[in-house]
Amino acid sequence: MTVTIVGSQLGDEGKGGVVDIYGDGADVVVRYQGGDNAGHTVVLGEETYKLSLVPSGAVRGTVGVLGNGCVVNPETLFEEIDALRERGLDPDVRVAERAHVILPYHRVLDGIEEEAKDDLAAGTTKRGIGPTYEDKAGRRGVRVGDLLDPEVLRERLEYVVPQKRALASEVYGVDPDEAFDVDALFETYREYGERLADEEMTVNCSDYLNRRLDDGDDVVFEGAQGTALDIDYGVYPYVTSSNPSAGGVAVGAGVAPAVVGDGDVIGIVKAYLSRVGTGPLPTELGGVEGQTPGYDGPADADDEAESLAAYIRDEGGEYGTVTGRPRRVGWLDMPMLRHAARTSGFTGIVVNHVDTLAGLDEVTVGHSYTMTTRDGETRELDTMPPTTEQWARCEANLRTFDGWPDVDWADVVDAGWEGLPEAARTYLTYVSEELDVDLYAVGVGPGREETIVLEDPFD
Ligand code: IMP
Repeated sequence: MTVTIVGSQLGDEGKGGVVDIYGDGADVVVRYQGGDNAGHTVVLGEETYKLSLVPSGAVRGTVGVLGNGCVVNPETLFEEIDALRERGLDPDVRVAERAHVILPYHRVLDGIEEEAKDDLAAGTTKRGIGPTYEDKAGRRGVRVGDLLDPEVLRERLEYVVPQKRALASEVYGVDPDEAFDVDALFETYREYGERLADEEMTVNCSDYLNRRLDDGDDVVFEGAQGTALDIDYGVYPYVTSSNPSAGGVAVGAGVAPAVVGDGDVIGIVKAYLSRVGTGPLPTELGGVEGQTPGYDGPADADDEAESLAAYIRDEGGEYGTVTGRPRRVGWLDMPMLRHAARTSGFTGIVVNHVDTLAGLDEVTVGHSYTMTTRDGETRELDTMPPTTEQWARCEANLRTFDGWPDVDWADVVDAGWEGLPEAARTYLTYVSEELDVDLYAVGVGPGREETIVLEDPFD
């Protein structure tokens, strides 16, 4: 059977930790979209592993697969595998031959295009994700399978690289460096292909996974980013270039929708909101320069929203795993969660970072929106509107809950649900009832022993 883990918000919901818990009972963990823009943290005892490409299960010895919906930077892949090996692990990672390869020019172009976009820039991780998916859709990409065949690789590079050189120099006025050199790229990427072949890492992903499922194996699909960053369902254009929502699994891993739908689809929720990147954010507290639209520092040094944001940011360690950027912070946004739950068909949710909010007098959520149209009319919404311009016109209708105390969370985990402070239970029950899905687990710290597991989808 399968279990799908999907981010419900804007990424960084703590999916890696949940995959670590539920993936422990699984035989295979599969990434179905994205690339090394993800930042998944797995805490194992005293050790912390920060992974951006290798599926989280690899830390525990579970087979990790990068599905054909992923974009793969071989340099990052081998760096992560080598780093894990140096720490005494033996990760078993397979890569779909149909997955597309991130080449150095994709990274360079990601940076150049972001600068050129100005206000439309998504604040990308500059890992070359968008330009690689562009080439995939433009049918000029290089796939993992091409790295194994030097003749095909050279042919592909000879076609595409001159176009990229021209784009860099003639459109953007940037001097193309070795990232745009066919011979240099050919040598490096042919070697990556040799290593992939030597280590028998490549697979025909759909075939491989379906055979494993036929043999009775359990598979976890590990979503990266979140629903509000989905290229179709997110805050376009401030999104990533793939489909983190559950629909992405069928296409990105080659497993039929009915098979995916037969298993649990679990939405991972952070108890508040965080965001790396630009675009509107109706429940935002304070702002972050360079990311919050129109923000150039606090108007007033004693601003309450700013201090709350700073407090939550520090308590929650809200700094980008990949980029180190401070994250924007806001209250939980229920319309965003309702949208995510519907889009992916959540059968359960896990709420993380409940400990981060402990100690606040009150905890607030954006329960619904009031949207003001261009003609000045107002409309009540319980979900995200389809365009980002409409979203920017939404004001959150807030609901306030009693805060909960900071307690000994290890004791709470031992005691289970009943051990949680009553106000936290009220908050969590509200979220689960509003979404009409069961609460599968509650995270009260980054480690796997800091999670209250209420339901195990593999039981
Ligand atoms: P890209 O995926 O690097 O193209 O970035 C597009 C948008 O998605 C930017 O706003 C990024 O900050 C955001 N993003 C990409 N990956 C993650 C992630 O793993 N966590 C949070 N935000 C992300």
